[in-house]
Amino acid sequence: MALVTTKNMFKKAYDGKYSIGAFNINNMEIIQGVVNGAKAKNSAVILQCSAGALKYAGPKYLKAMVDAAIEETGIDLALHLDHGPDFETVKLCVETGFTSVMFDGSHLDYEENISKTKEVVKYAHEYGVVVEAELGILAGVEDDVSASKHTYTDPDQAADFVDKTGVDSLAIAIGTSHGAYKFPPNFKPKLRFDILEEVQNKLPNFPIVLHGASSVDQNAVATCNKYGGDLSGAKGIPVEMLRKASSMAVCKINVDTDLRLAMTAAVRKTFGDSPKIFDPRKYLGAGRDAIQKVVEDKIENVLGSENSLA
Ligand code: G3H
Ligand code: 13P
Ligand code: ZN
Repeated sequence: MALVTTKNMFKKAYDGKYSIGAFNINNMEIIQGVVNGAKAKNSAVILQCSAGALKYAGPKYLKAMVDAAIEETGIDLALHLDHGPDFETVKLCVETGFTSVMFDGSHLDYEENISKTKEVVKYAHEYGVVVEAELGILAGVEDDVSASKHTYTDPDQAADFVDKTGVDSLAIAIGTSHGAYKFPPNFKPKLRFDILEEVQNKLPNFPIVLHGASSVDQNAVATCNKYGGDLSGAKGIPVEMLRKASSMAVCKINVDTDLRLAMTAAVRKTFGDSPKIFDPRKYLGAGRDAIQKVVEDKIENVLGSENSLA
């Protein structure tokens, strides 16, 4: 068992009409919760680190813990840089032993995104590392989410971009967004499946990535609120929409917010129910178990990747 790239995972996912969960990791409990969930469901999984995670835990700690997870669970894992901001961060991750990197040039103008992504692809491929890029802009957490605030991906540009850069997968904007507040309270969640379909037609057999794809479980939100939090109005992507995307060209679904919510709800509940607890293993352990549950539920009910390791 080893650290693997996402190549094979995506091929199987595309053909099998399911997707692979890419879960953000920041510490040991999150890593263990995710891999224990993947192991329990015999599912392929991607562990991904943002620049913030690299800064918080350090690339060496993260890589060493992921190596330990492979040894302990006996499953193959992919280790991915999420939203790589620049060439230096990509290089750091490749040198650390990551098997996949994202270069996020979505905020750049089109030609600059192409040239910077191309440079990353050339470098990463020399080391056998695969590359994800992004085209289109997801509405930010602070935005009032409405159609006009998204810069949806243009399918013709997507095909041209993949052709010119040689990337291995592409994140597109079809109406998802990062964080816990994806749609205003009275806004009916909507994703542009017509764009996804057009991209799929123009790029046959090419793996598409969906960022900002947490569902924002209302039970977790309610628990956070009940135990002293204030997450009123938090709202995510409906599960049916993610299932539909998984059956199409989407092969990778990114989840961070749902892990954060589950862990926070479990920690808050532990403190609320047991005010005398001060052993971190008690509350962090509860957080780890909650993360495992989320991952198992995603694999079974959202991604459809159960038994993909078989
Ligand atoms: O897409 C962003 C992820 O949720 C990572 O968030 O930059 O706070 O680690 P972060
Ligand atoms: P969420 O905030 O919806 O979990 O999205 C995470 C993500 O896209 C990480 O890249
Ligand atoms: Zn993202």
